Amino acid sequence: MMEPKKRLYLDNAATSFPKPEPVHLASDRYSRSVGCAVGRSATGKGQEVQRTVDRCRLRVSNLLDIGSPDRVVFTLNGTDSLNLALHGLVKPGDHVVTTHWEHNSVLRPLNFLEKQIGISVQFVNSDEAGRVDLSHLKTLLQQRPRILCLTHASNVTGVLQPVEQIAELTRESQTLILLDAAQSVGHLPVSLSKLGVDILACPGHKGLLGPLGTGVLAFREGMEELIDSVRQGGTGTTSNEAEQPDSLPEKYEPGNHNAPGLFGLDAAIEWIEDKGIDWIRNHEQNLTEQLCAGLRGIPQIEPALETETQNRVGVVSCNLKSLDPQTFCSLLDEHFGIETRAGLHCAPKAHQALGTLERGGTVRFSFSPFNTTEEIDYTLESIAQVASAV
Ligand SMILES: Cc1ncc(COP(=O)(O)O)c(C=O)c1O
Repeated sequence: MMEPKKRLYLDNAATSFPKPEPVHLASDRYSRSVGCAVGRSATGKGQEVQRTVDRCRLRVSNLLDIGSPDRVVFTLNGTDSLNLALHGLVKPGDHVVTTHWEHNSVLRPLNFLEKQIGISVQFVNSDEAGRVDLSHLKTLLQQRPRILCLTHASNVTGVLQPVEQIAELTRESQTLILLDAAQSVGHLPVSLSKLGVDILACPGHKGLLGPLGTGVLAFREGMEELIDSVRQGGTGTTSNEAEQPDSLPEKYEPGNHNAPGLFGLDAAIEWIEDKGIDWIRNHEQNLTEQLCAGLRGIPQIEPALETETQNRVGVVSCNLKSLDPQTFCSLLDEHFGIETRAGLHCAPKAHQALGTLERGGTVRFSFSPFNTTEEIDYTLESIAQVASAV
């Protein structure tokens, strides 16, 4: 086996690492020399905090084409955003359609709501390429489900769903679309209005390159009438009133904000703006193409799914014949310093659909703008060495 090189982090679908340097500087500056709460202080420093958080909201609104920063809600992570949307939107008796590609942050709230308030949940079929079967969806839409909740890009296969076409189909049944964009935002251009979705949830700490503890829920105009407040508390506004304010974003943001996280997120999105989302998409597509082409040359590799690079993000799953995924992952880490993620990736139904559930899932490689073609060469060489040694 080769000597381990430097640490090579390829688990960006879990959380991105490294972060751009300005992210650390901004969070650090907040913690050391700003320090006051968001929306609760009229001092000079308090205004600086407010300006930064407002600017961060505007950056998210512009990046995702939301139409107004007021409809950008800051949360703790992708899971928190999805819980806010699902618990705030879903009512007893609702019918919800979803996919087998969902993360547990969708599957578990839906399962909970099924049991607690009596909703019904149906799963739409997918085709061989891991994309929603549009003719099956059409059939399911005849029952006029209230909500379609789907992931934009699978965190197991990287496959992107044809969201624009799906949105076109839901128009007649007036089904609301909640998009889990955890693996697409920050990796490719995402526009709420172009995609035609109603609500979008994403973390701030994956593709957006911000700190852990940040997340976003964004929605089109009018959705605030349909999404209830699910947590209540102080907002620093209308404090003499007993009810949670209806104004945005206060309706969904009780309690103190993660100010160091939001300072970091603001700097992270500025970094993405400077780099250009098209550059990031192109770079990550090239890395994906390079890895997939190389894997095809290693006979012991079993890809989880083959699909065209333009239909996926930089997330690739595979197994090595005769090795369980945990051992494959450990060998890459111990001998080559390559950090991947083995297992079910919190998406058990995705692995069921791929036929990889029984063997404990797959090993997943996932990229960020900081990965390089040299790193992919090294990864392929390392995989080939493991393959020839077992
Ligand atoms: C598709 C998808 N949805 C939701 C989540 C949950 O995001 P978070 O880890 O920020 O809670 C993840 C995280 O891996 C994900 O991959």
